[in-house]
Amino acid sequence: MSVTAKRRADYLPPAFSIPLVDLTISLHPTKTVVKSKLSVKRRLTKDSVKDTEKNDGNKSQPLILDGNKLSLVSVHINGTPFSDYTLDDETLTLNVDTDDFELEIENHIDPENNKALEGLYLSGGAYCTQCEAEGFRRITFFPDRPDVLSVYTVKVIGDKSFPMLLSNGNPIERGENPDGTHFVTWHDPHPKPCYLFALVAGDFDLLTDTYITTSGKEVALELYVDKGKKSQGTFALASLKRAMKWDEDVFGLEYDLDIYMIVAVDFFNMGAMENKGLNVFNSKFVLADQDSATDDDFFNVEAVIAHEYFHNWTGNRVTCRDWFQLSLKEGLTVFRDQQFSADMTSPLSNRIKHVRVMREHQFAEDASAMSHPIRPEEVIEMNNFYTVTVYDKGAEVIRMFHTLLGPEGFRKGMDEYFRRHDGQAVTCDDFVSAMQSTTELDLTQFSRWYSQSGTPQVSLAHNVTSNETGYVHTFTVTQNTPSTADQSEKLPLYIPVGFEVIDEDGNRYRDDSGMIQNDLLIVDAPEITITITCDAKKLTPVLLGNFSAPVKVHNELDTASLLTIFAHSQDAFNRWDAMQTLYNRCISELYENPTATIDSGIWAGIHAAIDSEIDNIELLSECLVIPSFETLCQSRSNISVQPLIDARKAFCRQFSTQLEAVLLNAFNGIATQAYSYQQDAVNARRCKNVLLSHLARLPQHKDLVISQFDKADNMTDTLGALKAAQSLPADAFESLMAKFEEKWRHDPLVLDKWFALHATQPREDILATITMLSEHPQFSMGNPNRVRSLIGSFAFYNSERFHNLGGEGYKFVTDYLIKLDALNPQVAARIVTPLIQWQGFAEPHQALMKAQLGRLLNHKGLSKDVFEKVSKSLA
Ligand code: ARG
Ligand code: ZN
Repeated sequence: MSVTAKRRADYLPPAFSIPLVDLTISLHPTKTVVKSKLSVKRRLTKDSVKDTEKNDGNKSQPLILDGNKLSLVSVHINGTPFSDYTLDDETLTLNVDTDDFELEIENHIDPENNKALEGLYLSGGAYCTQCEAEGFRRITFFPDRPDVLSVYTVKVIGDKSFPMLLSNGNPIERGENPDGTHFVTWHDPHPKPCYLFALVAGDFDLLTDTYITTSGKEVALELYVDKGKKSQGTFALASLKRAMKWDEDVFGLEYDLDIYMIVAVDFFNMGAMENKGLNVFNSKFVLADQDSATDDDFFNVEAVIAHEYFHNWTGNRVTCRDWFQLSLKEGLTVFRDQQFSADMTSPLSNRIKHVRVMREHQFAEDASAMSHPIRPEEVIEMNNFYTVTVYDKGAEVIRMFHTLLGPEGFRKGMDEYFRRHDGQAVTCDDFVSAMQSTTELDLTQFSRWYSQSGTPQVSLAHNVTSNETGYVHTFTVTQNTPSTADQSEKLPLYIPVGFEVIDEDGNRYRDDSGMIQNDLLIVDAPEITITITCDAKKLTPVLLGNFSAPVKVHNELDTASLLTIFAHSQDAFNRWDAMQTLYNRCISELYENPTATIDSGIWAGIHAAIDSEIDNIELLSECLVIPSFETLCQSRSNISVQPLIDARKAFCRQFSTQLEAVLLNAFNGIATQAYSYQQDAVNARRCKNVLLSHLARLPQHKDLVISQFDKADNMTDTLGALKAAQSLPADAFESLMAKFEEKWRHDPLVLDKWFALHATQPREDILATITMLSEHPQFSMGNPNRVRSLIGSFAFYNSERFHNLGGEGYKFVTDYLIKLDALNPQVAARIVTPLIQWQGFAEPHQALMKAQLGRLLNHKGLSKDVFEKVSKSLA
């Protein structure tokens, strides 16, 4: 196994360019024939040659092509057989001395036995491809790097049992062959890197529509779904049109081909893929209807549809120079899809959703051995870097540009970015300089966010003195980024910190020297001090409004201040966050002393808070959610898992008991309306289901859960009841689960919810249950959605059993990963994540986790995906 890391610093431009690619692909389950005809041009510059080598201006460089798991049949140059090459497991090196030639290569591949789902594979009755990041090399020999851009013509030949033969761009010819097969030829006029190549062949139901762009161009929209699923595709298609319109309105960006195709497939390693003109989607992010999809599913479908569509400009028209620049397209595109979702649904609940992801997952990644900047420096397996850091922290960094420049300034910078770089493969630095050219603000220090990993901590100290003019409040804000596994030295960052100062009545105060502008304090030094001189003795500083930066905040506030923030902050995010801090604090008390009782003043405060927001159910529902165990972990170290889980449970139980009347009253006050995926209705269901989960802890409300399950006419309420039922006595939960399975056993996508509900039950025999479920007729280790629902949910979200002190949970996951890795390394490398995050936990957790990681590392034939993460975690 080659486990050498590639480094960002070692980038060299390609030695050859490939302006034209002509592929003919004859599909066959085990012996697909790929004929590739490339026009190759030597780049006669010195830049692609290492300085240390003899540099003759690239005249003698061989042409090195990537190729993986391919059987080579023949090579021709300018029509003549060519044999001066060497072939190994990863490369084909051609010793050519010409500068401009036509290269023809024929090779065979085996799609049916491709269980890694990378390259071309045949699964669930359809052929489909996944090339990003480095999957094209599993289809044919090619310089598989994003800075080689080519115009593609692709002829797909297949059996007529695959009536639909698709590739990128526009169809230019179709016909039949004497041997009974048929073909379609596609041409994509836009030069693209090979990672955006796609091919799909199968028998689908087709939904069609058209979209007219602002400039009057008509675009054919086509959505391909499994037979019989047509009605579940209409929402995705409508979402696509909303996304197209939004990108025109907000960024002035129009679609650039005559046809936009989306195919939903059941076997897919991740969410979806933005292949030019032919997106391939995990069916989970396409199919949705009232009966089978929750409101969250609808939300995700729209977000992912938009995300992939937005890539057409941020990713495809302007792409990445190398994979270290991944956040150039992903951070930016996630930011764009978040803004879109906020506009389509609600800014507040979106912001909270994304902050939860940061706190639960990104902070954890940054605290682990996998810590990396949003632009990584070193990579063994690129697939390991499609991370919450590159995506979500990357989006937070783009959001800070947006905050600092304002919507109009940001738009100007984006326009300049496209003006400069349309059609190019560029770097994060290129993005920053496009932004820089349109603003007065000096972005030099800000750009450290690209190179520095770790979660900065922003702390506030507050002192009050008095003099003849009144009280003088001094606020000292410090920043500090603890060293991370990958980087010990940290420099001060440029951090926009939302800053609001209020008194007990909600009056707002300005600082003496006007350093807070637009409710924002720029913290660009290790320490910043501001003062407020006023009549008020007690002031409450409120930090990080709208989560203005991806940092942790230390701001010691008493309960009264937290409740003041809830009552009076102008920023709804802060109001939510104050309640989260309050809950977190109560849980700490119970963690330190399990017999502690929560002060009755706190319950009274929460009670009043609920009363005050009874008509604002969007905020109310979010405020009633107790921080997850995973979130609680991020503000603690040396965690003893069971005591922390017990403390959280005890708090939840007291919450239900103490607030029963007001919770029940709120629950009964929300009328059940006819189902629609409209914001008001979504908020109502969300609130009802959060309330139900609290009430379900009290035996006297068991019937509420059962009756909601029985009456529900939509998946949101059905699932809400089932989740609440997780805290009912086992037999009640089991009986609802059995009814659910009875109804949905034919629909694997729905059954995934059922697998996940089982897997997250903290029951003692959970490992036996999971083993039994893995024999369920709908379960298959070859399908990533099933594996994530059953095994992934257990490892990520059943903390009580995963971290069980006997170590059985760790061992169980490890045993499974060893089997899975042989089949699908990408999915195995995802699920290993909770195991490598041992740093936060107390002994004996650490030792037990490391023992299993050691077993993994010693396993013969381990993929480099899993190797990279495990070896780092044990280093
Ligand atoms: N570019 C795709 C997206 O963001 C994801 C590709 C992920 N690839 C991978 N190998 N994990 O939508
Ligand atoms: Zn993306």
